[in-house]
Amino acid sequence: MLLTRSLDPGCGETAASAAAAMRGEAGSAPVWHRPVLLEEVLGLMVLRPGARLIDCTIGDAGHSVAFLTRAGPSARVWGLDRDAEGLARAHRRLKARNLDARCRLVHGGFGNLRDLAAAWNVSVCDNILLDLGFSSPQIDDPDRGFAFAKTGPLDMRMDRSQKLTAADIVNGWPEGQFRELLWTLGEEPHARRIAAAVAERRPFGTTGDLAAAVAAAVPHRPRRRLHPATRTFQALRIAVNDELGQLEAVLPQAVSLLAPGGRLLVLSFHSLEDGIVKRFLRTHGRRPARNKYARHGDVDMPTLSVLTKRAVRPGHRELSDNPRCRSARLRAAEKVVREDAGAEAADQRRPAGNERTGTR
Ligand SMILES: C[S@@+](CC[C@H](N)C(=O)[O-])C[C@H]1O[C@@H](n2cnc3c(N)ncnc32)[C@H](O)[C@@H]1O
Repeated sequence: MLLTRSLDPGCGETAASAAAAMRGEAGSAPVWHRPVLLEEVLGLMVLRPGARLIDCTIGDAGHSVAFLTRAGPSARVWGLDRDAEGLARAHRRLKARNLDARCRLVHGGFGNLRDLAAAWNVSVCDNILLDLGFSSPQIDDPDRGFAFAKTGPLDMRMDRSQKLTAADIVNGWPEGQFRELLWTLGEEPHARRIAAAVAERRPFGTTGDLAAAVAAAVPHRPRRRLHPATRTFQALRIAVNDELGQLEAVLPQAVSLLAPGGRLLVLSFHSLEDGIVKRFLRTHGRRPARNKYARHGDVDMPTLSVLTKRAVRPGHRELSDNPRCRSARLRAAEKVVREDAGAEAADQRRPAGNERTGTR
């Protein structure tokens, strides 16, 4: 069971497969991240004139550029990313296409979406996109420490202003805590051996050294598809960036920001993320909210209609063009227009308080 679950493969790629994944892009620098499941994402979005998108993971703005282009000149994007370098790239790409005036960017983690949206003065939106994981520029830069194909410092921070790095965990955490991390966030069956080997050989300075130690610690399997350190790197990256905590925090905030009929779209790249999204949609998407006492945006009530019965996966063509998308899963839901929405709107137009008694 454990071994059949999907992994985020990016960190385990060889330089050759990374190069193949990027082939076909603009040709000359800069080489942009290729937006995953782009047509499927657009097909699930509200694309009418004036449509608004909060792109919680703008990265290289691939999805946002396509949204702005497809939805027409009155469409708007609010984009955020916790990687300041990523944001600068997004701005450059939007500007090159004369789309920058229709997009506002901010540096921040989507776990604080409600506060960021309030700072933008955005209280309601038609589309919210979460394209989880890391971007190609992040993984291709050895200095960021996400990959072991090209060695670099043990960093892995998406937000470089954050204090905790992968080195702090690898070199500082007690062996038992590190083993637990490998087990829970990497679903690593050899967690015990790896944690013992790391504890014995630390301190580690580079991704290459850590990957070699992990490879030496696990049983040799000649036909192994992934590098033996893939799960260790996944676990470290999730922990350094609190990826699951951020995802759990953003989903209810995203629902409360959606307009009725608005769409929430989540692209995930490993089964831990996808499990959170699936459970959230199942909990909030059983049936339309009928409870007249439920306020609009009250996520304790079922408020979603799930649009993807099963997760949408990349087709053969996209997989051969961009092998990095191979574990992508797209799930989407629409915020339900409640049957009593008209009554509620009238309610909201009435002065606050009880007119008969004059009390609140
Ligand atoms: C897969 S890339 C997005 C690519 C983008 N959709 C495109 O088409 O170019 C994911 C981005 O999300 C950012 N990110 C990851 N977790 C985040 C979080 N909690 N808050 C904000 N941004 C995050 C990463 O820094 C990265 O730039």
